[in-house]
Amino acid sequence: MPSLFPDNVIDQIRDKCNIAEIVSQYIPLKRAGRNFRALCPFHQEKTPSFTVSPDKGIFHCFGCGAGGNVFNFIMKHEGLEFPQVVRMLAEKTNVALPRSSMFVREQKESRDLFQINELACTFYQANLKEQKGRPALEYLKKRTFPAKNIIAFRLGFALSDNGLLKFMRTKGVGEGLLEKAGLILRKEDRFYYDRFKQRIIFPIFDVRNRIIAFGARVLDNSHSPKYMNSPETPIYIKGNHLYGLNFAKEEIKKQDFCLIVEGYIDLLIVYQHGISNVVASLGTALTSQQIRQLRRYTHNVVMVFDSDQAGELASLRSLDLLIEEDTNVRIVSLPSNEDPDSFLRKFGKESFQEKIKQASDLFDYKLNLLTQKYKLDTVEGKVGIAKEMLPTIRRVQNAIRRSGYVKRLAEEFSRGEKSLGEEWILAELKKVKKDFEYYQKDNFRGVSFQALRPAEEMLLKIMLKNEDAVGEIKNHLALEDFHDLRIREAMRVVYRVHTQGQGIKPDQLISYLGSTDAAELISRISSCTEELINRQKTLTDCIARIKMDNLKDRLNRLQREIKLAQGWGHKDKIIELVGKYNHLIKNRGRKHAEKKAS
Ligand code: UTP
Ligand code: MN
Repeated sequence: MPSLFPDNVIDQIRDKCNIAEIVSQYIPLKRAGRNFRALCPFHQEKTPSFTVSPDKGIFHCFGCGAGGNVFNFIMKHEGLEFPQVVRMLAEKTNVALPRSSMFVREQKESRDLFQINELACTFYQANLKEQKGRPALEYLKKRTFPAKNIIAFRLGFALSDNGLLKFMRTKGVGEGLLEKAGLILRKEDRFYYDRFKQRIIFPIFDVRNRIIAFGARVLDNSHSPKYMNSPETPIYIKGNHLYGLNFAKEEIKKQDFCLIVEGYIDLLIVYQHGISNVVASLGTALTSQQIRQLRRYTHNVVMVFDSDQAGELASLRSLDLLIEEDTNVRIVSLPSNEDPDSFLRKFGKESFQEKIKQASDLFDYKLNLLTQKYKLDTVEGKVGIAKEMLPTIRRVQNAIRRSGYVKRLAEEFSRGEKSLGEEWILAELKKVKKDFEYYQKDNFRGVSFQALRPAEEMLLKIMLKNEDAVGEIKNHLALEDFHDLRIREAMRVVYRVHTQGQGIKPDQLISYLGSTDAAELISRISSCTEELINRQKTLTDCIARIKMDNLKDRLNRLQREIKLAQGWGHKDKIIELVGKYNHLIKNRGRKHAEKKAS
């Protein structure tokens, strides 16, 4: 968790928190020896696999893999960001947060922007109640919004009289800030005017119910664009938020799934039919930021597509991201020309819920679309389908589910002139995997689907149990020697803490980490109680193993490059590469020592 706060302050707060005490404010804990047990609050279960270790300062669930320190627990449970939790616990533990000038300035600006948005929202809301807001209220009535929801979602109306600018002036809010908030624009460098005119206003909230931006819809469809949104501001980054999550989060957790619709209106209509585990993506493809926010509440998503998106493979490709982020995706496609709003009005809540129940798994859905696009009874058709399906299958982390999909695909491919069996599919799948991993590495994105290398995991385990080992491992392996990015990240903090002469404490390590993946890894490994036999030998073996693997990787890479160079007939390059190859083989093992020395 790279943060605005210095490490020592974080350490201080963490040391003052008793994780068991804090967790027990959220869920009932039962003592089990030195630890505590509970039913995991992050997934459904009947027997407790959630453990809290006050000694280590960590929690871990052996069922769903959730884990971390006290900060992670509250972040996950309350759906808060790290700095928010730090502030909360700082208050609780009476630790003073430092006021670095940058930090204070940024905080002040954000606070001002939230305040201005709040003020603007009340202004727009008031407009709706007045005579001049009549047309807007009529419009909302026409769309069947009950007053209750107009109030709950704080809908408003912007007139075309620069009313907001005038109102803000009476409140002493400067134009500079209003412009920064995205509420006004400037003409010819001089004249300011309201951004939103003659539009219904939908405030966009963050999970803590603060207004971060606005969306605005025309009253009269002949004007365009139909919707206008706030620009990005210091408190609003597009693609980071989901509309309605603040209202929906409790219900999403309770039902353990979330409906995703496209727009403001769809969300409101779904909501007023008593379905409140719903968020809106606001007309764009989902981002991994949005998915991560959602993942705090559920791993199950039902996308509601309107008919024009439903047929589009492009919109499905964005869903591969969901799979990658370990989220189960099902898809509802509505009949042509319907969106959730029109569907609910025409067919009612029961039919809508029936549709949700029947939502198809992303795999089936995609396959179905593809069989309409390609001819399943020809070889070309099958290859075409495989090309589109395999990247999706590749992203499925669960091996059993993945092989189930391969079987299903093979079943489909057994029809027609030439059947392409499981073996062929698996071979093709392997090719996809390679490209995919390269892509992943280059982008330094999620690594969660990669299997851990056992030797790397074992070394981490040894170090967490026995800090004397760190020195030796550090002498032999540099950070780049660790292949798995989670492990590498964990090692980075272990090495750092060691260099500073501090002891290895799992909860402390976790608060220095940048990713939840690495945090969960550390909490899992340190929650393991199994004793290591023959530690020294294991350690030496693991180091040797990692060096060996890396050498192999490097040799393979060189081999591939040599082949490429041969293909191009690039003689000089071949000689150079072969030289490197031979050098590597000759110097087995010495490499690392040199690297360390430099
Ligand atoms: P739609 O065009 O489907 O509109 O856009 P809608 O939500 O069904 O609204 P009604 O029923 O016509 O009133 C879906 C979403 O795409 C975004 C908005 O977030 C909208 O809710 N959008 C659409 C824009 O941002 N700009 C636009 O011009 C259009
Ligand atoms: Mn609509």
